Amino acid sequence: MLDRDAPPGTGVGPAAWIRVAARDAFTAGPIVPVRVAGQALLLVLDEDRVFAVERACPHEGADLAGGRCAGSRLFCPHHQASFALADGAVSPGWSFRRLRTYPVQTVDGEIYIDSTGLIELQHEVTRQGCHSD
Ligand code: FES
Repeated sequence: MLDRDAPPGTGVGPAAWIRVAARDAFTAGPIVPVRVAGQALLLVLDEDRVFAVERACPHEGADLAGGRCAGSRLFCPHHQASFALADGAVSPGWSFRRLRTYPVQTVDGEIYIDSTGLIELQHEVTRQGCHSD
């Protein structure tokens, strides 16, 4: 059963869980692209745990779907920076922001993402895109 209160949302309201894939989506590899609330994300399988992160590298926007996963980190295919899957922290020596991560639950063979942060991000992008000056 989906636990609507766990893990906690992003602090902007109750969690809004969206089913994004079946747990067996990783048959072709540990990195699976998905689109949620208009945002391009990746599901990453590390050992037996699933993580959800943004798809574009925060450095120069490389597609992290072409990267690799090792040691609980996702490696960018372009300049080889890596990100902790747990919190998105970038590897030492880089000064750009961390990778955005999103809460995940796996229930009855289905993967759910808390879309609360994604919806807020979408609103932020929309507000930024509406400037006419
Ligand atoms: S584009 Fe990813 S590390 Fe530069």
